[in-house]
Amino acid sequence: MEKGIAFEAVRKIGIVGAGQMGSGIAQVAAATGYEVVLTDISDEILKRAQLSISSSCDRLIKKNSMSEDQKKNLLNLIQLSTQLSGEASPLAGCDLVIEAATENIDLKIKIFKELDKVSKPGTLLVTNTSSISITKMAAATRRPELVAGMHFMNPVPVMKLVEGIRGLQTSDETFKTVRAVAEKMGKTFVESVKDMPGFIVNRILMPMINEAIFTLHEGIASADSIDSAMKLGTNQPMGPLALADFIGLDTCLSIMNVLFTGLGDSKYRPSPLLVKYVEAGWLGRKSGRGFYQY
Ligand code: 3HC
Repeated sequence: MEKGIAFEAVRKIGIVGAGQMGSGIAQVAAATGYEVVLTDISDEILKRAQLSISSSCDRLIKKNSMSEDQKKNLLNLIQLSTQLSGEASPLAGCDLVIEAATENIDLKIKIFKELDKVSKPGTLLVTNTSSISITKMAAATRRPELVAGMHFMNPVPVMKLVEGIRGLQTSDETFKTVRAVAEKMGKTFVESVKDMPGFIVNRILMPMINEAIFTLHEGIASADSIDSAMKLGTNQPMGPLALADFIGLDTCLSIMNVLFTGLGDSKYRPSPLLVKYVEAGWLGRKSGRGFYQY
């Protein structure tokens, strides 16, 4: 069994995918003092990620939780790159790589194969997937025991949880390191013992959001009423429809599809209204329209 890098030796963290999750993870990792390599397919996406990290830091500065100097140091720790593969890729020098690409199994498997090639021996390969099988991604590599799930929540700088998931092949040492890295980042680590669709959070959260969309579709209440009812009646910071817009309706739909096909129970069928909205390109905040207009 290949031995993975130990927690104490982790200095440099690679991140694949610079969307809202990847950039949030990069920010938190750099704030912890890790060197970070943030990669994506275009300079434009990377520039957008840098702007979003910078404005997130500004919010922290406003609250006196960060100084201008700390922000400068943090941004300096993040190297941006469009080079995922090949010897020249800066990912080759990373001790742990977190994949935070779109929720698409074929894409993720392709990335894991590439990361397996580019990474040095002992580098841990971790996925931020919200619902897809860790075991399957691990099996696509020659180091399955060094693969695990590390599921961050959005917005990453604010949310306290990291959900840790073992694949069938994940070694105890790998999982120990992943837990320790998450805790060093100031997060509370909760373990999903089994690698089952949706793990803990999305197994429970997504059916609730999906049910809220059914409730809207069936005309039981307006979007505002559904969200107010859940906010004021169950003390959630955002109503389920506003949260769906915040997460992205395409992401919500792909998670529901993973639950539906993976668990084979009709109670997980995605709401037809959710499917229609995604077909229309109404993906929530990121596209300017979802259940609300932005
Ligand atoms: N960076 C830094 N700080 C941020 C931030 C960011 N991106 N976003 C919000 N904050 C800070 C604000 O500065 C503020 O700090 P303060 O309370 O100390 O002043 C605090 O967070 C609250 O922000 P706001 O006052 O602007 O707005 P809200 O009070 O409405 O909070 C929210 C925003 C934190 C997003 C809150 O609405 C919330 O917790 N919503 C639910 C989020 C949630 O459930 N996320 C999990 C989604 S599931 C998931 O990610 C899994 C995936 O697989 C689908």
